[in-house]
Amino acid sequence: MERFRNRKIAVIGAGVIGGAITEALLPYCTVTATRRKVDRLERLRQKGAEITPNNLSAAEKADLVILAVKPGQVIPVLRNIAPACAGKLVVSFAAAVTLELMKKATSEARLMRAMTNTAVLVRRGYTVFCRDDRTTEEDMTLARAAFACLGECEQVDEQFLDVLTAMSGSGPAYIYTVVESMINGALRVGLPRDIALRAAAHTAIGASQLLLASGKHPAELRDQVTTPGGVTIEGLYELEESRIRTAFMKAVAAASSRAKDIAAEVRSAAEREIERGGNHAENQAGNMPSVK
Ligand SMILES: NC(=O)c1ccc[n+]([C@@H]2O[C@H](COP(=O)([O-])OP(=O)(O)OC[C@H]3O[C@@H](n4cnc5c(N)ncnc54)[C@H](OP(=O)(O)O)[C@@H]3O)[C@@H](O)[C@H]2O)c1
Repeated sequence: MERFRNRKIAVIGAGVIGGAITEALLPYCTVTATRRKVDRLERLRQKGAEITPNNLSAAEKADLVILAVKPGQVIPVLRNIAPACAGKLVVSFAAAVTLELMKKATSEARLMRAMTNTAVLVRRGYTVFCRDDRTTEEDMTLARAAFACLGECEQVDEQFLDVLTAMSGSGPAYIYTVVESMINGALRVGLPRDIALRAAAHTAIGASQLLLASGKHPAELRDQVTTPGGVTIEGLYELEESRIRTAFMKAVAAASSRAKDIAAEVRSAAEREIERGGNHAENQAGNMPSVK
């Protein structure tokens, strides 16, 4: 970690996820955060980030460049900062934009693609990443040190990134839906709102931690808490009647299929821009589809 402290990281596109990544990195290294509406970065500046609307100068100063712009902006932004990225590691957190496509926009940089979620704000993100074949072991050390500031991380094959976008990226929305539904259920039978929220959230954390620590299948852990003729089985029966597991299986499949569709749209739009060449690309960026 001591070596990491001297590192300079540029976060290009410090919006929701880029801002959260910036906050998570700030205690450990120097971070320059960029976006066009730079006044919206004031809170990050107060927390110790350097801020600028100038992507190129931020990338020039950095040892590691993190991209957190919308998928449609990745290629135009990469082309703009390419001279500053030569010989450096660039990690894109944008959904859908492949390493192959990024390589076309910045042939001299070494590249990684990653996906995470907003739990990085409390250092509980689950970051998955893949790397291009030019990345070095030193790049891996640097990237892993940065990802460690965000929570857990794991290297995966690039082919899984679309479904992992539906799991890690979109997952918090599904968990919040479950937690909210449990809160509403408790409100319905008269539990005060604040206790209901804490009970639902802590139960979700505890169950997840036990799942990971035990190495057991969720069905086995569920069975352990399901007494014959007891309370839990009554609730489970209602959930089964609502086809809860089918609903979640369909949700993840639908989200991952949507991520794949958008990836294809982004890819063809970016390929058209790369073929056209020039700064024209930057003006067209807003027309590309976005993934969230
Ligand atoms: N939100 C999530 O939970 C999440 C999780 C994992 C991955 N992602 C991925 O992260 C990316 C960003 O998502 P988001 O939800 O954080 O979107 P967002 O809040 O809209 O952030 C994107 C940021 O990029 C900035 N930006 C746009 N063009 C720029 C440019 N040319 N130079 C510098 N900054 C620029 C925008 O600010 P200005 O308009 O001021 O420039 C905006 O703040 C997406 O690709 C998404 O797939 C998101």
